Amino acid sequence: MTHRFPPGFLWGAATAAYQIEGAAREDGRTPSIWDTFSHTPGKVAGGDTGDVAADHYHRFRDDVRLMADLGIGAYRFSVSWSRVQPTGRGPAVQRGLDFYRALVDELHAHGIQPVVTLYHWDLPQELESAGGWPERDTAYHFAEYAGLVADALGDRVELWTTLNEPWCSAFLGYGSGVHAPGRTDPVAALRAAHHLNLAHGLGAQALRSALPARARIAVCLNPGAIRARTQSPGDLDAQRRIDALATRIFSDPMLHGRYPTDLLADTARLTDWSYVHDSDLAAIKHPLDALGINYYTPTVVSAATDNRPPRKDGHGASEHSPWPGAERVAFHQPPGDVTAMDWSVDPTGLYDLLMRFSREVPDLPLLITENGAAYEDKPDAEGVVHDPERIAYLHAHLATVRRAIADGADVRGYFLWSLMDNFEWSYGYAKRFGAVHVDYPTQTRTPKSSARWYAEVARTGELPTSA
Ligand code: FCB
Repeated sequence: MTHRFPPGFLWGAATAAYQIEGAAREDGRTPSIWDTFSHTPGKVAGGDTGDVAADHYHRFRDDVRLMADLGIGAYRFSVSWSRVQPTGRGPAVQRGLDFYRALVDELHAHGIQPVVTLYHWDLPQELESAGGWPERDTAYHFAEYAGLVADALGDRVELWTTLNEPWCSAFLGYGSGVHAPGRTDPVAALRAAHHLNLAHGLGAQALRSALPARARIAVCLNPGAIRARTQSPGDLDAQRRIDALATRIFSDPMLHGRYPTDLLADTARLTDWSYVHDSDLAAIKHPLDALGINYYTPTVVSAATDNRPPRKDGHGASEHSPWPGAERVAFHQPPGDVTAMDWSVDPTGLYDLLMRFSREVPDLPLLITENGAAYEDKPDAEGVVHDPERIAYLHAHLATVRRAIADGADVRGYFLWSLMDNFEWSYGYAKRFGAVHVDYPTQTRTPKSSARWYAEVARTGELPTSA
């Protein structure tokens, strides 16, 4: 099989606002739920916060130059909602919008395509104080915000994504509580899931009406590659339940305008879903131009044999389950090598997801909007960061993408997570996903060997036969 990718394939890198920008209190920005959460003792490893992060707000011109040096063709970044609309409602703050306009202009000046994500988990704190994602109004506020950003950037950005990984916002934010805002209420988590779906649909509609016809609108999901430990009926039922909660709760309404009936049955004990109004599903199924898939690792499940299933599901330790209605499911460490997150390295999960969505929505182009790995990278005595494990990870996953394309999947691009080391949510700065190393005290950027390797792949459009 050839290792050459189709012409026009996008070679990208991704980041998110709270993880890199810093400048948390500058130019009118107000706290988001992640500012509040990270400043709450005990929530983030090492007491780390995104106050300074990689200081990208001040260093974006250098960072764009670095991307250009590395041959990055497309850059996926997110907009900090509370930087452009500090109260989450009402008029935009010009200085906030100016930052993103300057960033986009800088990208264009270097021949890099900007890809905007409107929401990467940083809800303005004011909206959380008014009830957050469990409340319907938050979806309407999101649509208003989407329109403001579209008005400001619509003339210079073609590819837009609404939400990043709404599963994490709903179930880690309101279920297990390991992400902001840190609530642990299964019903709130399910309500949040619906209102995130609604926000996506209304947001897509707001984008469509504000943007020129050439604009393309997508969403970034983290569908689960869920495997049953055995083929026993109990284990297969555990797989079905987790698949419903991880994936179909978002993809079914967004792509098909319905909630899965098995999900409604599994959660009936908790909620009657009466917060789904008549017209919601039609709004959520707004036509999309691409589906973004974020993938890191597969998940292995079985039926739990007692009432206290192990919580080792790769999403942080909590007494509270992020899987409402599927509490009696046990999670198992898949075999094989793991990254510094303890996530198993297994590209077959990515292959399965690409083929699944190719079959489910054959006309919808796919993008891998995140994929990558954390390792314990350190500069050596010469200041060089060698990260052969990351190169092997990227090679294996890109080979899988190429195989999925050969098998008929319409994959248009790949965004490495992440351009540079950053604030890894509840893990703080302890986990490094970057292709570029960041020395936080000095903010020195050092491309790791994986960055050079990726640059060569992007330049040639071809994967070397081995890592
Ligand atoms: C994804 C997030 C991204 C980053 C990676 C490692 O779930 O979207 O911000 O944290 O995981």
